[in-house]
Amino acid sequence: MSRIIIFTGKGGVGKTSTAAAHAVKAAKEGVKTLIVSTDMAHNLSDIFMKELGKEPKEVEENLWALEVDPNYEMELYYGSISEAFKKMITFQNSEDVESFDDIVVFPGMEELFSLLKIKKLYDEGIYELIIVDCAPTGETLSLLKLPEILSWYMEKLFPIGKVCMKVLRPISKTVFKLELPSSAALNDIEKLYVKLGELQELLKNREVCSLRLVTVPEKMIVDETKRNYMYLNLYNFNVDALYINRLLPDEIDNDFFDKWKDIQKKYVEILQDTFSNMPIYKIKWYPTDVNGTEGLSRIAEDALRDEKIFKVLKISDSEVFTKTGTSYKLDIKLPFVEKQEVDLSEGENELIIKIGNFKRNIPMPDVLRKYSVSKAKLDAGILSVYFENKERDLNE
Ligand SMILES: Nc1ncnc2c1ncn2[C@@H]1O[C@H](COP(=O)(O)OP(=O)(O)O)[C@@H](O)[C@H]1O
Ligand SMILES: [Mg+2]
Repeated sequence: MSRIIIFTGKGGVGKTSTAAAHAVKAAKEGVKTLIVSTDMAHNLSDIFMKELGKEPKEVEENLWALEVDPNYEMELYYGSISEAFKKMITFQNSEDVESFDDIVVFPGMEELFSLLKIKKLYDEGIYELIIVDCAPTGETLSLLKLPEILSWYMEKLFPIGKVCMKVLRPISKTVFKLELPSSAALNDIEKLYVKLGELQELLKNREVCSLRLVTVPEKMIVDETKRNYMYLNLYNFNVDALYINRLLPDEIDNDFFDKWKDIQKKYVEILQDTFSNMPIYKIKWYPTDVNGTEGLSRIAEDALRDEKIFKVLKISDSEVFTKTGTSYKLDIKLPFVEKQEVDLSEGENELIIKIGNFKRNIPMPDVLRKYSVSKAKLDAGILSVYFENKERDLNE
């Protein structure tokens, strides 16, 4: 079984360098490794100083690299879907149709196809280790919650199933002013839907996949790292390590840097306190850029010596259901969030948690079908939601 490690963090913090340093180290140790970039602003080719393409290319012994082209992936496997979606939307004028061509079907679609490519590569089983260099945080988050958003979207959009669709298609044009997808598109949609479910399972499989946060000791970035960690927990991903990059070396003896060193020290301490439940790796600030296998090996030798670094470094569930007497409790780890930011509501057999622009629909297990939320509390970074049996209350 191969292993997937996803590196994420704000733009410029050193995600690509850190991810690539891991890849170089693994390859040197004889592990068949693939490094994949899903960032639209690819820079793996710069860092390895080799031209890369849409399919993996060998850059060193045991090391392959790939810069995913989501449009190519989409055309290749799901071409009819985008046609179908385009037809489903009625346009006021032809200009809109043209501009629509530039946008890929729905927001985040590109990242989604990058992830599907990773799943495909994983399934092929060629590589022992797959290292993913992600797009900057904001987009990474949409990438991570995407499978859920899309499944939700598909369920709402195509609840009636294929047979009904066939019957509906002739009338829908006039009645709904909307053209339903052709059967080729429906087949593709179905295929995509199944794949999405599998992708979600893979990304949340704590034995295979983990996420690692890259940060630097600066206020804004530390704040964003904490926020990112909270959201990753909300979506139940396993974050198993933190990397603090660009640390000024102690050896620097220069007044100008003293103040900077103090500031860095303060944020390193904050990070150590807040991420005390996982390994933290520190990477120093090098006097020059860290390109090429030589520079990357230096990072690996200085900072990534841990023998277990490619293993899953921590497994803890961020969602736990427990039964207490006649009621049930769901604990969700939500560190660094304020009570007033959390908006909780109940959908049909699902619990909906909204924080800022992010919404998570948590499906409820069947046993809770007759239950509803009785209370919720947020304490020490854990949101506890209690469920009581509705019918029972009525009978009493
Ligand atoms: N510890 C470091 N010391 C010196 N330069 C670094 C270090 N980490 C990253 N860099 C340089 O900073 C730039 C941005 O790093 P990169 O890994 O591309 O960040 P990201 O992928 O997060 O945008 C690159 O030019 C890289 O060589
Ligand atoms: Mg990068």
